[in-house]
Amino acid sequence: MIARVKEMQADGIDMLDLTAGEPDFTPPSCAEKAGIEAIELGKGRYTPAAGLMELRIEVAKHIREVYGLDYEPTEIVVTHGAKIGIAQALLALVQKGDHVLMPSPCWTSYPEMVRLAEAEPEMVPCGENHLPNIADLEAARRPNTRAILLNSPCNPTGAVYPVETLSAIGKWALEHDIWVISDEIYGALVYEIAEHHSPIWILPALREKAVWIGGMSKAYAMTGWRMGFLAAPAPIAKAIASLQSQLAGSPSAISQLATLAALRDGDLDVESMRRAFEGRCKKVVQALGTMPDLICPVPEGAFYAFPRLADTIIGKTDPATGKTIQSGDDLVEVLIEADHVAFVAGSAFGAPDSFRISFAAADDVIEKAMAKLGARLQAIREN
Ligand SMILES: Cc1ncc(COP(=O)(O)O)c(C=O)c1O
Repeated sequence: MIARVKEMQADGIDMLDLTAGEPDFTPPSCAEKAGIEAIELGKGRYTPAAGLMELRIEVAKHIREVYGLDYEPTEIVVTHGAKIGIAQALLALVQKGDHVLMPSPCWTSYPEMVRLAEAEPEMVPCGENHLPNIADLEAARRPNTRAILLNSPCNPTGAVYPVETLSAIGKWALEHDIWVISDEIYGALVYEIAEHHSPIWILPALREKAVWIGGMSKAYAMTGWRMGFLAAPAPIAKAIASLQSQLAGSPSAISQLATLAALRDGDLDVESMRRAFEGRCKKVVQALGTMPDLICPVPEGAFYAFPRLADTIIGKTDPATGKTIQSGDDLVEVLIEADHVAFVAGSAFGAPDSFRISFAAADDVIEKAMAKLGARLQAIREN
């Protein structure tokens, strides 16, 4: 979808683009300065495969202060973005024939990463509130279930799992000897009264059976710097570091030094971006509240809303394109064609009845796009 928007823009079409999975802000200036200085001082050389010890120490300190997690620097691995951190964690933990669960809708890459590790992914649908429940996970569990991938705050739904949910999943995982890979890349981006908690903080025993994933792409707007980090029990961290050393080698030294500066001095920048996202989230929620054809739990984190189509719109025909709306994918198709408004179709996340609205876009783009969405739904309903 993102490629399609770019093509349409290249053809001179003015698009209202709410597909982005990356912040539209710039990184903290301390990070940019540190990156430039690292280049000027000739620091762009190989580092240890698990990352600079100085940065591993800083990450351990950061996750202790922010998430209450207790890891030694040797249990931290700096990765080439969170994505490869998750993939490497899976490669280290899972083998051929293993079964890996993930509450769905979920990030597109999870099932593919599991397949790359020669294991079998299974998406376990969440309830209407976008939260997983133990009965469904238990029904999906098999003797060879080896891991579960959790993602709170969640891409694509914006759900933030409450303490009880995380605690219940953690206990269930421990009881059945299942690894928890907790992708908390959006952890700093929660809104209103929502609070982000790591399941590893809630249930300290889980520390020995979990891999914590974080990174710089979302809260620090450093997507292209390709910086992530993970925390895991020492033998697992060591295995992942060995894997990384053979697969990709050390992460960029320049990005590591920029990350060090961002973790030390970037808090105010993160907070100002979080507030901006919070304001945009409100705009999207208010607009969705005026659209009876969409059902959407209020997002509490990340920068996405994930509405589902109500029965009032299913089976109706769009007057502009003549297309009948059977799914979220159909609606996304109509909007892009008729209104030049772009969202991501829900099938990308295992939920074809829905679609993803990203609010990582300027306020005026959000306002115009939401107005067009509302008008299109009305036109379809009244057709
Ligand atoms: C849920 C989730 N996890 C991980 C990532 C990967 O982030 P990174 O840029 O650090 O590889 C993304 C990026 O879209 C994401 O949405």
